[in-house]
Amino acid sequence: NNTILTDDFGRKHNYLRISLIEKCNLRCTYCMPAEGIALTPKKELMTAEEVFAIAQAFVNNGVDKIRLTGGEPLLRKDFPEIIEKLAQLETEISITTNGILIDRHIEVLKQFKVKKINLSLDTLVSAKFNTITLRNQFEKVIDNLHLLLNNDFKVKVNVVLIKGFNDNEIIDFINLTEFLPISIRFIEFMPFAGNQWDRSKMVSQSEILDQLSAHFSEFNLEKLEDEKNFTAREFRIKNYLGSFGIISSITNPFCDGCNRIRLTANGKIKNCLFSNSETDLLTPYRNGEAIENNIASAIKNKKKVRAGMTTVEEVDNPVLNQDNRSMITIGG
Ligand code: GTP
Ligand code: 5AD
Ligand code: SF4
Repeated sequence: NNTILTDDFGRKHNYLRISLIEKCNLRCTYCMPAEGIALTPKKELMTAEEVFAIAQAFVNNGVDKIRLTGGEPLLRKDFPEIIEKLAQLETEISITTNGILIDRHIEVLKQFKVKKINLSLDTLVSAKFNTITLRNQFEKVIDNLHLLLNNDFKVKVNVVLIKGFNDNEIIDFINLTEFLPISIRFIEFMPFAGNQWDRSKMVSQSEILDQLSAHFSEFNLEKLEDEKNFTAREFRIKNYLGSFGIISSITNPFCDGCNRIRLTANGKIKNCLFSNSETDLLTPYRNGEAIENNIASAIKNKKKVRAGMTTVEEVDNPVLNQDNRSMITIGG
């Protein structure tokens, strides 16, 4: 039964993304404003118990996939406790992480059947990693990527492309998929409060496709079938172990198949990545009220495409695109 999670366009929201924390151990410039963010007081954030109880309400109504995000989810001191609790629910659990703390948590991930990890890595050059993340952790992330693969995790690598910074590494990233069974996803840079987005810094899907056809023959470049509710349109180079895809939220959105709903670390629903209207669940939960009606109304208010921004021009309008949380407090 998932009627409260079905919106006016018939989209069933069976995929819940929960942000566990607003802090991160990196400072990626496209995610976090240079001046930092005002952290929500700890007592306003969901406890492990509350994460579980609210997630349970979603699972009872049809959610069967949960992704834990942040900030950096593995920074939560009680991360093992949260995973252990969520593992009791009838749902797949995966995480999106910067990879730095994977070695610390790998046993708990294996024990509680987390099998899929999405890892953020925007460059294959150590010095450039420092430029984008403002931290010196490139080798750690690479070591942990291999640790995950050696332990049979399914790994997707997220690459946010920024013009003049890493668009010259697209082919190098694809070459990694020759011998590594990973999926690389090239992501169009998206605007959020304080991340200095500018359309001219974005590398669009069509520019990526141009690089692909300049480098690989049509014969070697295979288009894979789209996953259900995909974000990435996927490809493979013939005979390579891994694959790669393009996440084109700006120039070619995939909202028709959207099955995602987001819960922020302070317990508010965001019905769309681009939406600034939020529905509080934590306050009613703490007041002992049922939260199903709040969930239903958040889903009902969801717009057909990108929180109502149907054109690239609207996404490009700072009045519209800066009136949203910073990515660090959404978690992608
Ligand atoms: P899977 O669950 O493996 O399909 O991963 P995912 O692509 O949903 O999640 P991930 O956390 O790895 O995010 C990768 C990129 O896709 C990030 O840049 C996200 O912001 C973007 N993304 C994830 N979900 C959505 C969404 O619902 N809408 C849009 N427009 N972009 C999304
Ligand atoms: N545009 C696109 N993707 C972003 N991410 C973070 N900020 C942005 C942005 N401004 C990605 C990260 C992470 C995923 C959850 O979201 O690369 O892997
Ligand atoms: Fe769903 Fe909003 Fe993303 Fe479109 S932009 S896929 S509606 S979350």
